[in-house]
Amino acid sequence: MPEMDGIEFMKQARQKNPDINIIVITGYPSQESIKEALRLRIIDYLPKPFSPTHLLEVTANAIELKKRGIIPEPQVENYTEEVAVKLDAVIDRYRHKPGSLIPVLQEAQELVGYLPPVVQRHIAGGLKIPVSEVHGVVSFYSFFTMKPKGKHNIRVCLGTACYVKGAEEIVKKFSDGLKLEVGGITSDKKFSLETVRCLGACGLAPVVVIDKDTHGSINPVKTLDLLKEFE
Ligand code: FES
Repeated sequence: MPEMDGIEFMKQARQKNPDINIIVITGYPSQESIKEALRLRIIDYLPKPFSPTHLLEVTANAIELKKRGIIPEPQVENYTEEVAVKLDAVIDRYRHKPGSLIPVLQEAQELVGYLPPVVQRHIAGGLKIPVSEVHGVVSFYSFFTMKPKGKHNIRVCLGTACYVKGAEEIVKKFSDGLKLEVGGITSDKKFSLETVRCLGACGLAPVVVIDKDTHGSINPVKTLDLLKEFE
């Protein structure tokens, strides 16, 4: 465009309509422009030449994401300029390796703390794969999360073996004691609480994992004792 470049156009469009959904089509994909576009919360990035099938896939994915209301999103905590640069370095390290998506997602989660849509789009753009593929993997594996976590993350197993031994009561004790819902985070961001289907330690039921430590055979009545070490 003679008056402004595509990035400037997106900035102005986003300012006028914060809810606008943008797919970038470009004949000049560069690392810099991709980074800038991702910062502007685009849905996807389509370098030319592309096939009609790819265009349809990207458009269908954009419509699906919009329907599910997961884009656009506000500024993501922990996803700073510095973290974005570190994530680029991770992507560069894995770019040409087969099966690179899962290790990239693992490192991204360590960097940001979770995998919100903007991070998923950053990874998809960097690895040049559809956002739908990244989203599919993040949704499939329970060790990936799209929600922010507290400094200490509590996971209570609600699988059958744990459920019959009082896991629901454990969840309630944590929820009441810390004043947070399942999936939530305390106001001081110290704890977050989630439930999982099975932690693979059914012989120790009921099981709670706090950060990386597994606690088995929990007496539901004494649930909150598990938090004493964090006082
Ligand atoms: S059911 Fe809880 S660890 Fe398997």
